[in-house]
This record gives sequence, C-alpha cells and structure tokens, in this order.
Amino acid sequence: MNTSKKITIAVDGFAACGKSTLAKALAKELNYAYVDSGAMYRAVTLYFLDNNIDLDDKEAVQKALDEQIYIEFRNIDGNNHTFLNGIDVEEEIRSFRVSDFVSPVATVSAVRRTLVKIQQAIGKNGGIAMDGRDIGTVVFKDAELKLFLTASIEERTNRRLQELQSKNIQDFTAEAVAENLKTRDHIDSTRADSPLMQAEDAIEIDNSLLTPEEQLAYTLELAKDLIAEKKKQATV
Ligand code: DC
Repeated sequence: MNTSKKITIAVDGFAACGKSTLAKALAKELNYAYVDSGAMYRAVTLYFLDNNIDLDDKEAVQKALDEQIYIEFRNIDGNNHTFLNGIDVEEEIRSFRVSDFVSPVATVSAVRRTLVKIQQAIGKNGGIAMDGRDIGTVVFKDAELKLFLTASIEERTNRRLQELQSKNIQDFTAEAVAENLKTRDHIDSTRADSPLMQAEDAIEIDNSLLTPEEQLAYTLELAKDLIAEKKKQATV
C-alpha cells in the first residue's frame, strides 16, 4: 500500500490507443515517474528472438529471466529509452519482428511474474504513471487513478503508422499494422494469465475523437482532485 502523498496512475487499454502518450504527459505535468511496461515485454521478446529461446523450454525461459536479461530505462535528450543489457534497443523493440512476437511472449506466466515484480518495486512509493494491459488489474490494484483507453481500429492504425514514420521505421503497410494490432488485442484479451480487461474501478475513455491535449486536460483534472484528496487525508 502506497502511503505517500503521491498517487499511482494506471493506464491500460488496447494496442496503439495512446496509452504511453497520455501516461508520459501526466507524469511530466505532475513531476512523476513514467514507466512503459510494454517496452519491458518487448525487450524480453527481443532477447528471446536474438537468442533463439523457445517459449516452451521453461528452463531456458526462467534462466534467461533470472540471469541473462537486465532491462533499464534511461533518459536520452528528454526521451525515455529502453536498454537491454546495456544496449539502447528503443528502436528495435518497435520493429515488426518484435511486435509480431511480443503477445505470445506476454502469455508466458514466468515472464509476467518477473516483470510484474519489477514494475511493483519501481512503483512502490507511488508518484508514477505506468501504462500497459494489466496495470490496474494486477500490477497496481490499489492505484488511485485507473484509466482504460479505447479508440477505433482505424484511428489506432493511423496513430501507429505516424509513430513508426516519426521513428523512421519503414518496413510496414497500413494493412500489416492493422493486422498486428488486431491479432495482439485478441491474444492480449484472451490469454489465461492476467488478460487485458478493464478494472471495475477504471474510467473508460474512448479517445477516437479527442485530441491528446483534451484527453490530458480531462485526466489531469481527475489526477489533481485525487492528489488533493490524498493530501487532505494525510493531514487529518
Ligand atoms: O504497450 P505495447 O503495445 O508496447 O505492448 C506490447 C505487448 O506487451 C502487448 O501486445 C501485450 C504486452 N503487454 C502486457 O501483456 N502487459 C503489459 N502490462 C504491457 C504490455
């Protein structure tokens, strides 16, 4: 239980709903930490691909998680970069090679157990905005603010295309992007271990027609009210 005056913000939802954009912006406004939990699943996936780790080989998976994979985030010129074993993999983890394999990797319970533990340790004192699929349901069940984002598949495809273009990643078509999003959503929502679902106490936001600024203004207001409430409780 986080007893500090800072709240915990969980942002969940389908692929390419703008979760990281929102969580990052909220963290910046509130001077909180931001963690992209999907990047951690992507980094594990990259390691498994590069080292030919078979997901059915439980021993190899566990050994890799326990002894061979070290993930950290570093700030490079104001941007959050994911490092795998000391190497900046921010661009590589967004490639199709990784995007196509990350959802099957995220169904593996040993992977989830390891990453959830790290995420909980990072956020134990609150003051964090984390985005993912199981943040409000598993990682931070007591989060004061839980947001569940949705958007139409057309809008999400466009956003992911723009994101890839801005990162100079060229090996894609709109159809391939849409297909990847739909397949991932299906695997993420139907897996046995902590599937993507809306927490009962989460606020659902369909942001298909909202600008990032409108969404931020609305959620920042919610966060500030909760922070004020928490401070009030701490002083009585
Ligand atoms: O947020 P993202 O699209 O980068 O996440 C990549 C994949 O990682 C996603 O398809 C499912 C998995 N994931 C997860 O299972 N749980 C999380 N908390 C975050 C991501």
